[in-house]
Amino acid sequence: MKFIGRDVLSAKDFTREEVDYIIQKAQDIAADIAQPTPRYRDILKGKVLAALFFEPSTRTRLSFETAMLKLGGGVTGFASSEVSSIRKGETLADTIRTVSSYADVLVMRHDKEGAQRLAAQNASIPVINAGSGAGEHPTQAMLDLLTIKAELGKIDGLTIGLVGDLKYGRTVHSLAYFLSQYDVNLYFISPTTLAMQNRVLESLTMKRVKFKQTNVLQKTIPELDVLYMTRIQKERFVDTEEFQRVKSAFVLTAEDLVNAREKMIVLHPLPRVDEINPNVDSTKHARYFQQVRYGLYLRMALLALILGGLK
Ligand code: NCD
Repeated sequence: MKFIGRDVLSAKDFTREEVDYIIQKAQDIAADIAQPTPRYRDILKGKVLAALFFEPSTRTRLSFETAMLKLGGGVTGFASSEVSSIRKGETLADTIRTVSSYADVLVMRHDKEGAQRLAAQNASIPVINAGSGAGEHPTQAMLDLLTIKAELGKIDGLTIGLVGDLKYGRTVHSLAYFLSQYDVNLYFISPTTLAMQNRVLESLTMKRVKFKQTNVLQKTIPELDVLYMTRIQKERFVDTEEFQRVKSAFVLTAEDLVNAREKMIVLHPLPRVDEINPNVDSTKHARYFQQVRYGLYLRMALLALILGGLK
């Protein structure tokens, strides 16, 4: 397995063996960080991460930056293209070439699906996709897998339901690609108009993954080990009336969970809008805030592997 210098553009670029290795390293880091003098504290000393965010973000950007700082590295970048020379008409390719001469790794979020691939072609440093339009968000899906592994002890054998906006939600696309390498049962639960993208379904069919599609959440809940909620991606809708029709299609409340399996966990990449009622937060099933913390460990492991701080 070789991680040094690698781009992270799509979940399809990683084997199961590689994903399991990254998860293992993230679990090592999680254990180490609790020690009085963490071993990983300075492994990226002198390295710089550039975070270029052309779309809003809280967790993804801050967790990448925090991960770099906790490994002894530094950070630069921008949280909105409004403050960069893109505003003056500079091309993305020139921006990327410029950043390549300052930083050692580039983390980028963009509303256009091909932007990270274009960046990777123009960069002399590794490029990590931190969200590409309605395409993919591979590092979120890696941290989702870490959360499942850490909370339930395994991934194989589980029944996992992905709920909400499966058409425009990029995290569920990457997560489905990764899960296709495990022995899982998948449920895709969404309004019919926001069903899982065909390109993802085709890839699952090719790999003989067991999946079912439905638009009813309630009666599926008792079968699930993982309930992965998502936000309806308002910013991707061309038609606001269509958004109004589906915006509150699935709202999970504590009452919905009475027939859930004892150990079932509820995840969400966040931000949530109204799809998880706050009364779920205090149930034994809620794990979406722990999931945020796993994101830090996962990104620490990934950066350390890509930049050669860890083998
Ligand atoms: C997600 C995203 O940006 O795709 N957020 C995240 O990175 N945790 C999910 C979303 O915005 O709904």
